[in-house]
Amino acid sequence: MKRAIVSDIHANLEALTAVLADIASQGAAEIYCLGDIVGYGPNPCECVDQVMQFDACVLGNHDQGAVFDPEGFSAGAERAIFWTRSQLESPPDSPAQNLRRWDFLCELPRTIREDGMLFVHGSPRSPLNEYVFPEDVHNPRKLEKLFSAVERFCFQGHTHVPGVLTEDGRFLRPDQLDDVYPLGSQKTMINVGSVGQPRDGDRRSCYVLWEDGAVRFRRVEYPLEETARKIYAIPELDDFLGDRLRDGR
Ligand SMILES: [Fe+2]
Repeated sequence: MKRAIVSDIHANLEALTAVLADIASQGAAEIYCLGDIVGYGPNPCECVDQVMQFDACVLGNHDQGAVFDPEGFSAGAERAIFWTRSQLESPPDSPAQNLRRWDFLCELPRTIREDGMLFVHGSPRSPLNEYVFPEDVHNPRKLEKLFSAVERFCFQGHTHVPGVLTEDGRFLRPDQLDDVYPLGSQKTMINVGSVGQPRDGDRRSCYVLWEDGAVRFRRVEYPLEETARKIYAIPELDDFLGDRLRDGR
């Protein structure tokens, strides 16, 4: 069975729409989401509506900030979170749909475990907030602790930087792997990248397909100028949030 794993949509509806079309063209039977459906971007309600149709989803720190209390965010990110909350509180459509979105976000689990696989937003030991960066290969103590919380494979997002982190301390970017990594007997962490705000220097949306014991990274073009225009038109969203889409940073 082929499964798509997406993360960090960040209310970018143009990116999500393009990725969902790509997932359909690849024939994936299931879609999992690793959180941060909202925050930064201009279409939180529409993106939550899409993710509610997925097969599974975990809570991201921006989702939590929007429905509970934001903590530890930069001033710009916090402004975006409060604007996101205002959209979720008074959406342009029905009160019933409003309630469904709140229930869905409030009830998202922090982890999903299945057959030795772990799905989180941040890290295996701190699912909501901890970052696992490529540079962590230089921090063997951190790696040891992280991998001790992984049974076999951990799928994660949060950094918006896709790649594979091996237990023997290598971080492999998708371009170093020709986009494919066969999962073996070694414990492995897979960062699936970001749909709505990539930060690895490639502006295209990123997600992962999982099938027959291998992961495949997919990059998808989307009309980012449209998203940037919407961001510029909303005073509570910093222009920088539109600018960075162009650079993929
Ligand atoms: Fe994120």
